[in-house]
Amino acid sequence: MQNQNDARLNFFVVLAAMIAGVAGILFGFDTGVISGAILFIKGQFVLSDTQEEILMAMVLLGALVGSGVSGRFADVFGRKVSLIFTALLFLIATLVSAFSISMIMLGAARFFVGFAIGVASFVAPLYISEISPPKFRGALVSLNQLAITVGILLSYGVDSYFANAGNWRWMLGFGVFPALVLFIGVLLLPRSPRWIVLQGRINTAREILRSLRQTDDVEVELEDIQASITEKSSWRGLFKKWVWPAIFIALGLAFFQQVTGVNTVIYYAPTIFEMSGFHGSQAAIMATVGVGVANVVFTIIALPLLDLWGRRPLLLTGVLLMTVSLAFLSLNFYFAGASVLLKWAALISMITYIAGFAISLGPIMWLIIAEIFPLEVRGYGSGLMVSISWFFNGVVTVTFLTFIDLFGKAGTFLIYDVMCVLAILFVIFFIPETKGVSLEAIESNLRAGVKMRDLGLPRK
Ligand code: BGC
Repeated sequence: MQNQNDARLNFFVVLAAMIAGVAGILFGFDTGVISGAILFIKGQFVLSDTQEEILMAMVLLGALVGSGVSGRFADVFGRKVSLIFTALLFLIATLVSAFSISMIMLGAARFFVGFAIGVASFVAPLYISEISPPKFRGALVSLNQLAITVGILLSYGVDSYFANAGNWRWMLGFGVFPALVLFIGVLLLPRSPRWIVLQGRINTAREILRSLRQTDDVEVELEDIQASITEKSSWRGLFKKWVWPAIFIALGLAFFQQVTGVNTVIYYAPTIFEMSGFHGSQAAIMATVGVGVANVVFTIIALPLLDLWGRRPLLLTGVLLMTVSLAFLSLNFYFAGASVLLKWAALISMITYIAGFAISLGPIMWLIIAEIFPLEVRGYGSGLMVSISWFFNGVVTVTFLTFIDLFGKAGTFLIYDVMCVLAILFVIFFIPETKGVSLEAIESNLRAGVKMRDLGLPRK
């Protein structure tokens, strides 16, 4: 009988993961596109600074609310139906935002785009982790992060293409294309076998597993899934003491992924480049595209390494790179003042920083959040953690420019740097290696009270 660790990768699983990953493209596209579009929207609706900030924050607010309810949604209606809902919402809200005739209408539409991002950012990695064979789960779930980075790069491209004509409607409206692909693709997806087991439909789950694994020999995996469901899924599960280590690990990653400052780079890269001496928006945009490309390339490099080297070595290497590059950037802002060296130092450190993020906290936060919770609270637990990550995303994004005023550039980057150092310590002491371990083994270790670092060891 086949052990689920031997399950092979096949075209069907990869295709299903790629379709669910289109949700990630929308996530990246819709969070990235506004930075260019806002320049023209501001002119059209004559926005004050506060109105502009509110409009920028609408997506993050929507994502916070969307991911907050997504856990319950995904447990009650299932992963597939949640993805269908998300695709429809993306379609409608994107169209409404492209045709908006007032600031209020646009703000509301962006809130619902954000809501769809929130649900997608949670359901897509969850779904992928539930259909993947353990050996390839790291790479498959991280296709979602790759899609996010591709979406961000796409948004930079679309923004600069329509910038000459100042056409913000097309910038936002372009999102309709990936939304359509997602909608059609998701209709063809199989349901998550784990969710089907949760509904008590064992025979259906067996059929799905057989087609996902392309073999009839799925009994061990099916039994493992069944064994991991001891109680009905509910919020209350999160208050059980043996679940707390999972919450702590996921919470720490959600926190550190954002407070180490990635979105100051993603959303404000042109501003940072201008501060460091790239004159003219053209040069700043070129440098920004460089950051976008590095983000995609290093995420691709990370994909196979996640399941080969494991999560911990990548986290440690990546966050160390982030720490060194932020220290370098901060020192340069402090000492180099207006020297010409500063702009090259800024470019090198931002590319190194994003490379470090792309091989570590970028993919691995989503991955571990999708892996670490026991099945009976997986929906609620991971949904909650994803919304916490959106919350910190909002906090960092909204405070960045104020921090620059208060603490200066060197001081602000130093703050993110200190966060990186704390993140390294957090990884060293608390993050388990989950490479190649089945989700059920992680769960049985949690139940056995194994200490956090060891949750990925062979089951107790
Ligand atoms: C983060 C986003 C970030 C993106 C950059 C994601 O994992 O959650 O906040 O913008 O990576 O690649």
